[in-house]
Amino acid sequence: MARITASVYTSHVPAIGAALDLGKTHEPYWQPVFQGYEFGKQWLKDNQPDVIFLVYNDHATAFSLDMIPTFAIGTAAEYQPADEGWGPRPVPKVIGHPALSAHIAQSVIQQDFDLTIVNKMDVDHGLTVPLSLMCGPQDPVKGAWPCPVIPLAVNVVQYPVPSGRRCYNLGKAIAKAVASFDEDLHVQIWGTGGMSHQLQGPRAGLINKDFDNDFLDKLINDPEAAASIPHIDYVREAGSEGIELVMWLIARGAMADAAGGAKPKAVQRFYHVPASNTAVGHLILENT
Ligand code: DHB
Ligand code: FE
Repeated sequence: MARITASVYTSHVPAIGAALDLGKTHEPYWQPVFQGYEFGKQWLKDNQPDVIFLVYNDHATAFSLDMIPTFAIGTAAEYQPADEGWGPRPVPKVIGHPALSAHIAQSVIQQDFDLTIVNKMDVDHGLTVPLSLMCGPQDPVKGAWPCPVIPLAVNVVQYPVPSGRRCYNLGKAIAKAVASFDEDLHVQIWGTGGMSHQLQGPRAGLINKDFDNDFLDKLINDPEAAASIPHIDYVREAGSEGIELVMWLIARGAMADAAGGAKPKAVQRFYHVPASNTAVGHLILENT
């Protein structure tokens, strides 16, 4: 049977993608950010998954105000990189896993979560920057990501957004779905976006280190408490874009302890301010 082996959490700051793509990773501003991912890059090589289930948010690339799915699962064989604003990053296309996607969609919808099925979509920095951070630069043509990826796009851009509790429970349903897939696959679930940041309005530039570090503590040791944070607290404390953190709760809800199993082992914790307008956070939790 398939099983979730680990969860990875990381910010997706688009300027990190630009720094990578323009060869600026050793500049003094960026060096500490990329240093924080050296462990994760080696860890991913040593713990090669068969599939990555990647929870991220689309930034008006695949979706727009015309159509706003709350939770949208990609079921395609492949996804092309794209981005509004700066355009597509020069990175490899993303190979999907249609059989596991379809199975998860079936199982999760039967567990009463109404996912939107997306058979064709492009993926933006929300998905490709976490891959780049964990895998390092890849040649767009000759290179490849280390394994197939299943995208789950979550609406955290246009209100109303899903609650942290709903996201945590969705993670539990995804773990159940994975565990009932009849193939011996090692699946990692990645929760991306965050941490505190606000890109517009009078509070643009807001960063809240206390909130972020408390969130990291809770996510590791008391995910129930993290799942209880109301959405208004993210907005007040972590800025309007800090709400991206609810996506981390989907990955956390898929870990064994959320279903009564053993607590995960935290093998990496990293926090750095600033990267562009954003506080960068990164965690790796292994199921034991
Ligand atoms: C920035 C952060 C984001 O999450 C995003 O989607 C766009 C920009 C920033 O920090 O500049
Ligand atoms: Fe974002």
